[in-house]
Amino acid sequence: MLIDEEKLRAYYSQAPEDISLTDVDLARIPRHVSIIMDGNGRWAQARGLDRSEGHVAGVDSLREAVTTSVRLGVDVFSVYAFSTENWRRPQHEVDLLMHLFATTLLNELPLFHQENVKLRFFGDLVALPEETRDVFQEGLDETADHTGMTFALAVNYGSRAEITKAAREIAELVVSGDLTPEDVDEGVFADHLYTAGLPDPELLIRTSGEQRLSNYLLWQLAYTEFFVTDTYWPDFTRWDYLRAIRDFQGRHRRFGGVVSK
Ligand code: IPE
Ligand code: IPE
Ligand code: MG
Repeated sequence: MLIDEEKLRAYYSQAPEDISLTDVDLARIPRHVSIIMDGNGRWAQARGLDRSEGHVAGVDSLREAVTTSVRLGVDVFSVYAFSTENWRRPQHEVDLLMHLFATTLLNELPLFHQENVKLRFFGDLVALPEETRDVFQEGLDETADHTGMTFALAVNYGSRAEITKAAREIAELVVSGDLTPEDVDEGVFADHLYTAGLPDPELLIRTSGEQRLSNYLLWQLAYTEFFVTDTYWPDFTRWDYLRAIRDFQGRHRRFGGVVSK
């Protein structure tokens, strides 16, 4: 994506001591950045608040991260918001999250219009409450013509479920004679994932210090660089985002070869 450098500089004024915009190479911004937004509950508990307050505070971080992604010229920005395993949480927390997804998305539609952001979802939306599903559909419809950054929200997403779904769809195509087993290659398989048509993430950020994938994008993260920060998601700012990119740009990605670039 094209970067509006004037806007970007204004957005990144008042730098803290350890990082500034000049620490990153704007010509090498990762095309796809993905974040496992974690630590909302611990953020709230540390303040003597209810976990739900952490989720509410996390919405502000997400809004900032979307804006940061746009300003930095990221092509695809994706976030893990609710896993297929998160249904195991107390019902009131699940209900709150589902309601929060719906209200947040509605509230942010003007931002998506203003920034030309195209919305997308990873996950099985059929299982979501009607309110959430309807708002998600509205978001898809309203941003369908946008040509700027793609913002993907992973909700009721699980990588194993996704891969199983792809295998089932491909099996059906083979049974119906539309594909032969020999046709099934990595490209065909990738076309049956929620991420079809998108580049794989180059940078995956996980907040709150956890060093695991929690069933997120197992296929797509094959060669992704990881950045784990101890910062809880509600405290994650544009500066943490910049620190992650600086770190990413200092890595040598080899993709199994020996030449580093
Ligand atoms: C991440 O924060 C948000 C979701 C998974 C929906 P958590 O709710 O997992 O927060 P912690 O990990 O309990 O602190
Ligand atoms: C991963 O966080 C899922 C999301 C951020 C949506 P969790 O908090 O659910 O992951 P675990 O349980 O610590 O692995
Ligand atoms: Mg968590």
